[in-house]
Amino acid sequence: MQQGKIGIFDSGFGGLTIFKSIQDRMPQYDYIYLGDNSRAPYGNKSFETVYKYTWQCVEWLIQQGCTLIILACNTASARALRSIQQNELLAYPNVRVLGVIRPTAEIIGEKSKSKSIGIVGTAGTIKSQTYILEIKKFFPELQVYQHACELWVPLIEANHIHTKDADEIVKQDLELLFAQSNKIDTLLLACTHYPLLLDTIKKYCPPHITIISQGPIVADSLVNYLYRHSEIELHLSQQSQTLFYTTDDASDFEEKATLFFGATIKAISQKIGNN
Ligand code: DGL
Repeated sequence: MQQGKIGIFDSGFGGLTIFKSIQDRMPQYDYIYLGDNSRAPYGNKSFETVYKYTWQCVEWLIQQGCTLIILACNTASARALRSIQQNELLAYPNVRVLGVIRPTAEIIGEKSKSKSIGIVGTAGTIKSQTYILEIKKFFPELQVYQHACELWVPLIEANHIHTKDADEIVKQDLELLFAQSNKIDTLLLACTHYPLLLDTIKKYCPPHITIISQGPIVADSLVNYLYRHSEIELHLSQQSQTLFYTTDDASDFEEKATLFFGATIKAISQKIGNN
């Protein structure tokens, strides 16, 4: 069997927050990052559209030689992962596709002393109820309060992070979440874009709240997965090479991604679907 790369997919820049943690933990592997920036945000789109876009991007990553693909996007994980695993991958038996919701649900209950957590995510993720269903399997006693923050991803994709509008929007959304219960002591950022707003989120969170980003959780889970699945790990190429692709303008991606990723990157523009 040929050596394969690890593909990291997100609707845009958010997956970089997951990729950074993964690459820090496992710099030896070869990675391809794909951001579907020209069609982001996914969060307010229909189930069918998110599924179609996600599968087009995953199939492209498979064509580039990826044998393990991480949907570093909660919306895509909530709306497309299961069908991709159960249907599309029948044609690609050597490929594995993993999401970010299950690894988060497996450990989130350990973070809350009051057994009450708040979750913020896109409308697609929140409406799907996937977190509620997955968390119940591991922590049936946990109270879960959710709120959809529909404007946060558009703000981030447009790089309007340090603006008055961002402050006002984040403040309002967090107030609506925390108004649901005064027992919440843990806030899960269930959208991979949201760590990019962390400074603003911290500003409007009550001080006793522990804020959880998914990067380290997903990276730990992947280390563990590869340890348990040596048949996959043995076929991953290890030359520490990374390629970044975007479905939008490459120089725009480079400029913003460098800011978000904390390192200078080179990007390639790639057409996917009819975009
Ligand atoms: N980073 C994606 C997520 O985790 C954002 C989705 C979007 O494009 O709205 O859900």
